[in-house]
Amino acid sequence: MDYTPDLAMYLCHRGVIDKAVERYSQTWKKQEDNCQKLRFHLTSECNGLDRAVVTQNSTPVDSEISYNGLKKTLKVTPELFSTFIKEHPFSNKTWDTCAVVGNGGILINSSCGETIDSAQFVIRCNLAPLGNGYEKHVGIKTDLVTANPSIFVERYEALNGRRRPFVEDLRSYGNSLLLLPAFSYSSKTILSVRAIYTIEDFESPIRPVYLNPEYVESLLLFWRSQGLRETRLSTGLTMVSLALELCNNVHLYGFWPFSHHPHDRHNLTNHYYDDIKPKVFHAMPAEFDLLMRLHSQGILRLHLGDCP
Ligand code: CDP
Repeated sequence: MDYTPDLAMYLCHRGVIDKAVERYSQTWKKQEDNCQKLRFHLTSECNGLDRAVVTQNSTPVDSEISYNGLKKTLKVTPELFSTFIKEHPFSNKTWDTCAVVGNGGILINSSCGETIDSAQFVIRCNLAPLGNGYEKHVGIKTDLVTANPSIFVERYEALNGRRRPFVEDLRSYGNSLLLLPAFSYSSKTILSVRAIYTIEDFESPIRPVYLNPEYVESLLLFWRSQGLRETRLSTGLTMVSLALELCNNVHLYGFWPFSHHPHDRHNLTNHYYDDIKPKVFHAMPAEFDLLMRLHSQGILRLHLGDCP
């Protein structure tokens, strides 16, 4: 057998994959007590229902926003303030069933689109594409989609040139919330504001909101207290955390950060739409282990197989 990078990766993760497959094979049952306990802790320590998003109510003109994990702050100008949503979109709202869709290659040929779309609230990550035949496997319904501002640089020339292609790509997400982690670095703030101006200028129905860096910070502390060693949470875990507060039943699709499929071990691309590798600062296998633990405790349900 050739010793390829894929094989090396597989050998490196084989133990974790085997363990995950074994845990996944046990019958899943929702554990209401565990769900409520975790939700109670998340809400008391992070309170995503009221704090996940920067609003005009929470962040007035002249207040200061702290960048994630940095000493740097930003004073809220009237111009920046005008781009904040007025009221928090989730206050006092909960849904029965949510689907959080990670971008893993495990979704390829999964036929999970219909099942995902049957959830009341569907969360997607990083403007992952929905057309081009992906719909059957990942669905189309979107209530919230995140966009890391680096996407605007990689796909849309930092929104400095023609901006219409960006607005056209937003169409598939309808009038969902577009969640922008604008306050991790100052360069991301500038790009996010430019994205919001573009959305306004082209009258796109999507509703842009900023992810609150204080919420992100509190989530990091929360998951560290649960044993996760990380300096920055992935988009996926951030969205799972939000869903655990917003929804009674949380289902995860596309979460499998390994290079081989759990069932027949065929090679997988990192994303269902490309093979750009993950950035090193996320401890993806450690995050996955945490998600697997929550699955085993009946708090959320991971889906690693194809859908019926
Ligand atoms: O922004 P980030 O690089 O974290 O995410 P992404 O690559 O756009 O994928 C969105 C999310 O899907 C990630 O944050 C992971 O939680 C999850 N994912 C996964 O579990 N397995 C993969 N192979 C790829 C993504």
